[in-house]
Amino acid sequence: MTRASAPGKIILLGEHAVVYGRPALAVPVTQVHVDVDVSDSARRGVWIHAPSVDLHEELNALPSDHAVASVIHNLFFLTRNLHSPSGRGAGGEGEFPDLEINITSSIPVAAGLGSGAAVTVALTRALSAHLNYGMHDEQVNAFAYEIEKLHHGTPSGIDNTVITYARPVYFVRNQPIETLKVIEPFTIIIGDTGVGAPTKQSVSDVRKLWEADKTKWERVFDEVGEVVQAARQKIETGDWRLLGGLMNRNHELLQEMTVSSPELDTLVSAARDAGALGAKLSGGGRGGNMIALVEKENATAVAGALISAGGRRAWATEVAATIAKPTLR
Ligand code: PMV
Repeated sequence: MTRASAPGKIILLGEHAVVYGRPALAVPVTQVHVDVDVSDSARRGVWIHAPSVDLHEELNALPSDHAVASVIHNLFFLTRNLHSPSGRGAGGEGEFPDLEINITSSIPVAAGLGSGAAVTVALTRALSAHLNYGMHDEQVNAFAYEIEKLHHGTPSGIDNTVITYARPVYFVRNQPIETLKVIEPFTIIIGDTGVGAPTKQSVSDVRKLWEADKTKWERVFDEVGEVVQAARQKIETGDWRLLGGLMNRNHELLQEMTVSSPELDTLVSAARDAGALGAKLSGGGRGGNMIALVEKENATAVAGALISAGGRRAWATEVAATIAKPTLR
């Protein structure tokens, strides 16, 4: 059996503007993860089990653009001409190997925590390793980006990048990945509105705004970029109060982009009222999650305030300099 895992992620600052070439900061969230096991099957076919989404199907029963099926088809295509020592190279003449693939995930879906990219990364790693088709992180990341493009239109690539490398990143589209240096661990509360919101929709709505008035929106994106640059510096020097203020400003700019929502604004205000140093929506917006920067001793109070204000779930995650790489066994 071959197993691989991938963590969830949150975007600290810079979402949406990152699609237009501005920088963004994102960090892995290791409390939630996707685990994929691949083993040889005694029966014919490629059997996929993903109990958290009630999926138990043979590959060919799934539409080829299905999130899981598209990863498998594209990976089989990549490895097709492979002559693997174990003889498990995928498919001479269109033949697929017989496999059982088990996918378990604790990452909530459509909540801005990167569940789709984490499934792609973990599945790519487990399947490629099982087929003896070695892939470096760069290859996994590039492959996962192609898959993200199939499903999300014009993604920046930030999700697949932070999840593949499983460390805090300073990300600029189409640029080499830069590690975000974290001077000391800091605490973020993640608050879930409970409202599922497809990122594709908010990204496409922001594009419409931009197309209607590029001068205005380029200026807004520039300001997001400046906020992100300043925030990077605060994280590198440990200036948490100023970082909080920058998160608040980023939330205002996201409101201007129309990607916040009443539920997100309620949770953001509740976090600030409970003593958070700053709070903002995180990810595509319109629903999903918000994040709040807190002093450790205040974490329980802020999480409690989010639940009292209607949040579905609130939990703390620590952002640290070095995050263990996902395991591959
Ligand atoms: O909703 P999420 O967490 O997948 O975040 C998407 C981030 C955006 O900037 C809105 C889109 C992108 O591709 O970068």
